[in-house]
Amino acid sequence: MSLISGVSAIFFARVPRAFRVVLDAFGAALDPFARSVGGGTARVYEPTSYHGRPMRARKLIRTAIEELKASEAIDHWQKGRERIEAEDLLGFVMGDEPDPEDKVRDAERDAFLGLVARRATGEPIPYIKGFTEFRGLELASEPGVFVPRDSSEYLAEQAVKRLRGRRSPVHVDLATGAGTIALSVANEVPKATVYGTDLSEDAVKLARRNARRLGLKVRFAAGDVFGGLPATIAGTVDVITVHPPYVAMDEVDDLPDEIKDWEPVHTLTDRSSDGLGFVRQTVAEAPTWLRPKGWLLMETDPDRARDVKKVMTDGGFRDVRSTKGGDLKITRVIIGRRPA
Ligand SMILES: C[S@@+](CC[C@H](N)C(=O)[O-])C[C@H]1O[C@@H](n2cnc3c(N)ncnc32)[C@H](O)[C@@H]1O
Repeated sequence: MSLISGVSAIFFARVPRAFRVVLDAFGAALDPFARSVGGGTARVYEPTSYHGRPMRARKLIRTAIEELKASEAIDHWQKGRERIEAEDLLGFVMGDEPDPEDKVRDAERDAFLGLVARRATGEPIPYIKGFTEFRGLELASEPGVFVPRDSSEYLAEQAVKRLRGRRSPVHVDLATGAGTIALSVANEVPKATVYGTDLSEDAVKLARRNARRLGLKVRFAAGDVFGGLPATIAGTVDVITVHPPYVAMDEVDDLPDEIKDWEPVHTLTDRSSDGLGFVRQTVAEAPTWLRPKGWLLMETDPDRARDVKKVMTDGGFRDVRSTKGGDLKITRVIIGRRPA
């Protein structure tokens, strides 16, 4: 399913200097092997002891890979994921893509091993780093708000394609989370008027913060499904996008720990028995907001694609199709036009 396919695609993101200073300052606090000795804190590195000489990046990464592979909290289905994540975290700490032969200073080694230990508990990398990258945008990410997934880039791509050619395009991103799809559209279709809504006040706050930092204009509002939209745009929307909480209530327990233990349950499931409650409500209300022939684009997982398609067809939508894209070719976006 696409909810669990989001291994970060940025392996070696450049790190703002402010982050590095913070890491240096808190390296000891993050250090899983630090021991309190005589009232002070001494670091004892049994697993990686190197007789006081600086350690090479290659060896540190190997140590981290072993620790991540041993973690039961992380889903290991994607080959090479542990290396990608170890290199990502070391790049984050060092501020640049590490060369395997780089010598790593003690403070950076300490900070890195602390972050690896956090990741081994299942904590998502965007929560650890405080940001993630989505279609070239650096989005702040924090606990309480759904982590944007690489897989959703395909949903944004589908929206951009349908909005670019229009003179005054209007886009609505429901269940916007950190502002993920809405901000991508605002960035890539500057003439578009973009709205993003979410039930969670925390999500809306984070989305607004992201918009400010990126200098992008999106009207974010809190509300239930279409609840946050101004009535004045009814019948004018060209494209509605939504990546809804689509896991069936009794399937939440089957999700990997790194998801169900870290991301709020309301971001994963609408608490319906089939995971289609949000989808049904969207299909019922979208015709009021779309202009004639306007598009509804819904991200879902391969297992639910057929059901979502049926809900849209039964709801009178036209030209309903299941499209497949993204790097891993597993994202499904079900598309359809407003009923006549
Ligand atoms: C799977 S996340 C998608 C977030 C974002 N679109 C993304 O792809 O990064 C689902 C989002 O739906 C929001 N949500 C849950 N129930 C909602 C409701 N009834 N109305 C509006 N948003 C809701 C959650 O707060 C969460 O941000």
